[in-house]
Amino acid sequence: MTESHHDVLIIGGGAAGLAMALEVAGQRSVTLLQPQPDARGASRWAQGGIAAVLSPSDDAEAHVADTLVAGDGLCDEAAVRFTVEQGPAAIEWLLSLGVPFTADTTPEADYPYHLTREGGHSARRVIHADDATGRAVIETLEQHVEHHPDIRIRHDLSALELIGDTAGHCRGAYCINESGRPHALLARDTVLATGGASGLYRHTTSPCPASGEGMMMAAELGAELMNLEFQQFHPTCLHDPEGSPFLISEAVRGEGGHLLGANGERFMLDVDSRAELAPRDIVARAIDAEMQHNGLDHVWLDVRHLGETALRHHFPTIHAHCASRGLDISQTPIPVVPAAHYSCGGIGTDLRGATTVPHLHAIGEVACTGLHGANRMASNSLLECLAFARGCAHHLARSTPPSTAPLLTPTSGEGPVDAALVGELRAAMRDIMSAQVAIVRDDPGLAAAESALSELNQQFVRDLGNTLPDADVSSLRHALRLARLTVVSARARRESRGLHHNRDCPLHAETPPAPSRIMASALGR
Ligand code: SIN
Repeated sequence: MTESHHDVLIIGGGAAGLAMALEVAGQRSVTLLQPQPDARGASRWAQGGIAAVLSPSDDAEAHVADTLVAGDGLCDEAAVRFTVEQGPAAIEWLLSLGVPFTADTTPEADYPYHLTREGGHSARRVIHADDATGRAVIETLEQHVEHHPDIRIRHDLSALELIGDTAGHCRGAYCINESGRPHALLARDTVLATGGASGLYRHTTSPCPASGEGMMMAAELGAELMNLEFQQFHPTCLHDPEGSPFLISEAVRGEGGHLLGANGERFMLDVDSRAELAPRDIVARAIDAEMQHNGLDHVWLDVRHLGETALRHHFPTIHAHCASRGLDISQTPIPVVPAAHYSCGGIGTDLRGATTVPHLHAIGEVACTGLHGANRMASNSLLECLAFARGCAHHLARSTPPSTAPLLTPTSGEGPVDAALVGELRAAMRDIMSAQVAIVRDDPGLAAAESALSELNQQFVRDLGNTLPDADVSSLRHALRLARLTVVSARARRESRGLHHNRDCPLHAETPPAPSRIMASALGR
């Protein structure tokens, strides 16, 4: 195995990884793994924007309060305050790097950039670049990363597992290159920025979702995972069975879009006083109920009343994408369906991104910082990437001496990879998760999911457990294990809260809510 030595190793090249690289470079030298083909993760597909208190008529206490309400009693208030406080500086930083946020030139504007509204927010506070904010942020950060003398980007390597040592420290990552050759990247500090676990489900809002690989890599080194049962489904993904996944931003509802049910009426009016702008858990559950009740495979998002000019102006990407699929959104309501979007749980970290494993940090969707609680509020996620990249970089500005304990050996095998079987097992896992562990759950379904996933895992161990190092096999192994931990966490929460709704215990528990915590050891080997 080829061996190389690195200072700060960042695994993942989405918003969190790129921001982290730029924040820490200059003080430390950085190796950034941004594997192809989907190098830029889910952040690239984020449409809506970044929530921050920018307008003089808004205030930080309101952003904190809205986030706590959306999180349904499970947020860590210190993490919420830390993130909200970083907001204005994070946006200044992005502006200084050249992110082309949409200007507001109207006479009534009290801030130079347009601020949109999304579910759960009591004010207009979402800054955006048209309806393609993630793409604008990623492309800008990439330009700076590519030219930074202290950052080396590796597109050719994928991480398979972390390198641990006998003292329990993280020492880097075992990787594989495009031709299957293994590499050990030894690092003083390792930062996971690998994204969430929406890929455990069949329908997702992003075309190449992560399946919790980073979460499980960390867990296998002894890191604690938190709140895995809180998987967010975005209420409005375009219903387009023949096309690739496409999000219809929550900003569309923020600018006045209405959800219509089977009878062509606005069903959200009967569900919540905030109607279409209630937090996502409530809207997604109401859509799911409307679909179940009427045997529909989607509902409709009506924007016809906003007019062609406003639609083209505010939502050029959505307008053009729908047109390319034969849908004129100024004339016809948009068919929409909830889809797996964001993992509120992940690797437990503190405000510096530190995990329970020395020399291992986690930022972005892979982490559970306490900001989102039981349900993430719209557009808080890109803000979290920026806030925690900064906190983590500050913490890592000076390196501490690495451990010198003997390294643990990587998983190894020699058999050929049966790619068809990898695909079959992944599809079976996604079907189980989508049927039993999605928006509405119940005890028998969760129990059935746990045993079906255990059987899949046994099949994996028997038929794929001894293969040569391979990125797809490793990803499936992590995904199957994380899916089981997700179900164990869901079964253990004897209440309904935020994104976790169990028909057999539909109310909040009377005891004060606590985050769930789970270790890989809950699965045995
Ligand atoms: C959206 O535009 O609705 C997605 C952004 C987010 O998930 O915060």
